Amino acid sequence: MQVWDVHEITPEFGSEITGFHADLLSDAAIRSTLKDLFDRRAVLVFQNLEITHAQQTDLCMLFSGEEAPPEAESRGDGWYISNDRPNAAAPFGRLQFHSDMMWSDKPCEVLSLYGIDIEQPVVPTTFASAVQAWSTLPEDLRVRVDGLSAVHTAGEVRRGNVEDVLVSRVEQPPSTVKPVALPHPRTGESILYACEQMTQEIVGLPGEESEQLLVELFEHLYRPASLLHHEWRKQDLVIWDNLALQHARPNVRSDGPRRTLRKVASFIPPLSLNQRPVHSTV
Ligand SMILES: [Fe+2]
Repeated sequence: MQVWDVHEITPEFGSEITGFHADLLSDAAIRSTLKDLFDRRAVLVFQNLEITHAQQTDLCMLFSGEEAPPEAESRGDGWYISNDRPNAAAPFGRLQFHSDMMWSDKPCEVLSLYGIDIEQPVVPTTFASAVQAWSTLPEDLRVRVDGLSAVHTAGEVRRGNVEDVLVSRVEQPPSTVKPVALPHPRTGESILYACEQMTQEIVGLPGEESEQLLVELFEHLYRPASLLHHEWRKQDLVIWDNLALQHARPNVRSDGPRRTLRKVASFIPPLSLNQRPVHSTV
């Protein structure tokens, strides 16, 4: 008898799972069911789940279909997004919409965060679906971006009001060029592959025209009615498709309510430490 339940969070994407226990991850049929659910819904929210770093890593690998990460990435008890722990990533500031490592030739496919220490009222994480955005893109915009590519950088991209944005300062930032309509490597669906935080420009368009087109794409991508806001609770595991979805957060204050999340990604490229942007997650 199945003791866990699944509920849709929005009609388009996101499922919440209650009553799940990490011991169930050893069951092949359940693993297959979860993988299928992940590919269809793009983000799964496990409520009130006790899960170790190794089990969180296992789930990321299962959903990405990739091999286990290098030992150096999988050992220990993980790394943290926190405004409370020393040496944690993204300790303060607002993060604009992005997919982690969008500037890489091979960005990670699956990301996860686990609520370790959450003090209310906590800053949420917000998701936008770049797959839904492409499938619902107005015809005039689709025609204008057809066949175009864009440049994505790990460096600083200043766009809109960036007063409280945590910006990236990276020496010789890596960058990549990809089609605006990018096929998803697992599902084959088209992704609207551009984000406000890391996309620098559309290739081959004059500066103003490029920026105007990007702004119109972002208005569609981030239309408020299409967003999913996750309000964190302790022992929430949120695991999402980093290519199908983009994520963002409002401003986190260093002296605000404690917000410590354990992060595991399915793949981290071999970068030197000074190449790793500080805004790599939320
Ligand atoms: Fe991120």
